[in-house]
Amino acid sequence: MRIGITETVLRDAQQSQMATRMPLSDFQDILPALDQVGYESIECWGGATFDSCLRFLNEDPWERLRKIKKACPNTKLQMLLRGQNLLGYKPYPDDVVREFVRLSIKNGIDVIRIFDALNDLRNVKIPIEETRKHGAEAQVAICYTTSPVHNIENYVRLVKDMENMGASSIAIKDMAGVITPQETFELVSALKETTNLPLHLHTHSTTGMGFMSLLKAVEAGADVIDTAISSFSGGTSQPATETMVFALEQMGYQTGINIDKMIKIDSFFLPLHQQYIDCGLIDPYILGTRTDALNYKIPGGMLSNLISQLKDLNAIDRFEEVLAEVPLVRKDLGYPPLVTPMSQIVGVQATQNVLCGKRYQNVCKEIVSYMLGEYGMAPGEINPDLQKQILGTQKPIDYRFADKLENGLPAGEEALGELAKSEEDILSYIMFPQVAERFLKKRAEQEKNTVQYTIEEWEEI
Ligand code: CO
Repeated sequence: MRIGITETVLRDAQQSQMATRMPLSDFQDILPALDQVGYESIECWGGATFDSCLRFLNEDPWERLRKIKKACPNTKLQMLLRGQNLLGYKPYPDDVVREFVRLSIKNGIDVIRIFDALNDLRNVKIPIEETRKHGAEAQVAICYTTSPVHNIENYVRLVKDMENMGASSIAIKDMAGVITPQETFELVSALKETTNLPLHLHTHSTTGMGFMSLLKAVEAGADVIDTAISSFSGGTSQPATETMVFALEQMGYQTGINIDKMIKIDSFFLPLHQQYIDCGLIDPYILGTRTDALNYKIPGGMLSNLISQLKDLNAIDRFEEVLAEVPLVRKDLGYPPLVTPMSQIVGVQATQNVLCGKRYQNVCKEIVSYMLGEYGMAPGEINPDLQKQILGTQKPIDYRFADKLENGLPAGEEALGELAKSEEDILSYIMFPQVAERFLKKRAEQEKNTVQYTIEEWEEI
């Protein structure tokens, strides 16, 4: 039986271990070799890569994608999309969502893994439609979490609905690495009875469950697993690719992976990983196994972000308290899965609650939007007293928030004006206005500087 391998080093592995700070120039040379390994797909875009390119790396994320595609023409490129929130932190109007999906595919994406943080399928409908329309694979993900309001029956129902909506494949997205081998086996078995669509498992090594859960997933019939090249594996990242390939091949599964070629990939990334540790980009703390995440349900990316936020605030000594506050905030909010943007919203609120000394004295405005239902339906009941305290006389909405949003493209185009050199620039701006504007201004400056000196002018100087 064939098991596909999705390599995550270019997206989730570096996002989970080093807050997505890997510049293209650091990994560009290994791309042709990655293309030869035989992966089912390479996850390389989406999630935080876009924001990080513009905000920290002074890179055009679209240009990064085109370069990866050029160097990897034989392997499917995969991205992660936050449903109606695209790569941002709030719902966008439908015209923006459609245009973003179209351009992602045009620039090189083959597989779009689409999820909604609350598993509210109204928020994945437009991305699925648009992905299929442009001939790419619409992989729809359930955000896996455990809580008093989440169970296998709910997930089975969700997956049936996803299939009816036109999903090309299904992923179980366990962003916190909390799925246990037993839960994996039961869930994958139940889903395989529900649908014939290819089934993927995405998990993390955070709690140490990762390898076991991937193996149980394969035994229960999963078709594809997500792993990271060993030098970037483990801890908050994915289980190691080579380890899974060795184990699975011995058991008689075919992964289609060329093991010799993986050695080259690993020897490339190993010294790079050490460099990132040496310069402080990777905190060795997150490389270990943390079983307390089984209680806190904190995804890898969120854990490393919390650490860097608390360090910035000079409050890293409050880390344990913040970790303990996270599940309490989550309960108050009706048990949302901790995935973007809910992981940030819950993380920031938990930090506020601890640092302020009084819970919910300061409330971030995203909490208000959440309570109003702008992100979608909460999985469980929101703490009614807290909702009343925060909303006052405002009433939650009873429709999909994006239904009443005005088209966003015209305003974005107008606001950016001359700075926009492409359709892609406008999308960058709509999602990250300040950050993209700063980036585009800098780019325009650099371009000006480079065309200023023709040979003729040079001679005159
Ligand atoms: Co992940």
